[in-house]
Amino acid sequence: MARVSLNETRLADHVDRLGLEHPPIDLATVDYSVRRPDVFNARYGHVLDYMARVELEVDRNVLELTTLLPDPPEIDRRFYAEVWQPQEIRHGEILDELQVQLGRPAAEPDLTSLGTKMRILGALAHLDPFQDVCRMLYYLTGMATERSAVLAYNLLHDGVVEMGEPAVAQTVIAPIRRQEPGHYAFYQLSARGLWSQLAAWQKWMVRRMRSFSFAPVGANDATQTADFGDMLATLRIDQDVDNFAGQISRVERELLWAHTRGLKVPPYVARAFREAVELAEVRRAA
Ligand SMILES: [Fe+2]
Ligand SMILES: [Fe+2]
Repeated sequence: MARVSLNETRLADHVDRLGLEHPPIDLATVDYSVRRPDVFNARYGHVLDYMARVELEVDRNVLELTTLLPDPPEIDRRFYAEVWQPQEIRHGEILDELQVQLGRPAAEPDLTSLGTKMRILGALAHLDPFQDVCRMLYYLTGMATERSAVLAYNLLHDGVVEMGEPAVAQTVIAPIRRQEPGHYAFYQLSARGLWSQLAAWQKWMVRRMRSFSFAPVGANDATQTADFGDMLATLRIDQDVDNFAGQISRVERELLWAHTRGLKVPPYVARAFREAVELAEVRRAA
């Protein structure tokens, strides 16, 4: 079998399996009870809020997606419509309900506005040769986002266990984090498959556009970037932010920057994470 169609078969199998094995989390299985709500809120309330917002913004992501991929491959459409969107929305609903039960205001997801960068990319995406460039950027964003989610939920889970809040750890965080690696695997398979088909000029274009458009997940303005930095600090990622940046961009580095030997982390990724940590520190000091 040719490599392209082998990859397509693997992707289709993967999406089938995710759909079967990971239906959206059943709300009846969630136990929101917290032993020390005030302590829990003080420590993790803002983390819940950030994560809830990002998960609930999945509907905006779908809008971005249809802007970026006016004519998406069937497997991409099936993944986001049948697997990804229903799972992520449920993650958001659960995390948001938890923060509301802690006495916090509900998250305020932005479901409609597309940023300037996205509009430019969307316009380019309608030009045929750019379609695959935009599709590649979409997969790279998906990989970084889902890998961030996997790592952040792992740290949050450990922290919540350590605090002695087993209900939230076992019935909220654990089931959510179980669903994220499958999303990451979808984007990784897709990115590897498409990268091997791109022409040299398309690869060059992907590197350039990625370098100016990268942002940490959910950080669309200065306030959100500082919020992201706060979350990194609470999860103690700020102590070793380059390591985290390296982990979320490992495959991206391997694909896009293989020719630059010795590069540990794409510079735009490392810079964006350091900026978030610094912005949060400045805001706290003020
Ligand atoms: Fe999620
Ligand atoms: Fe996800």
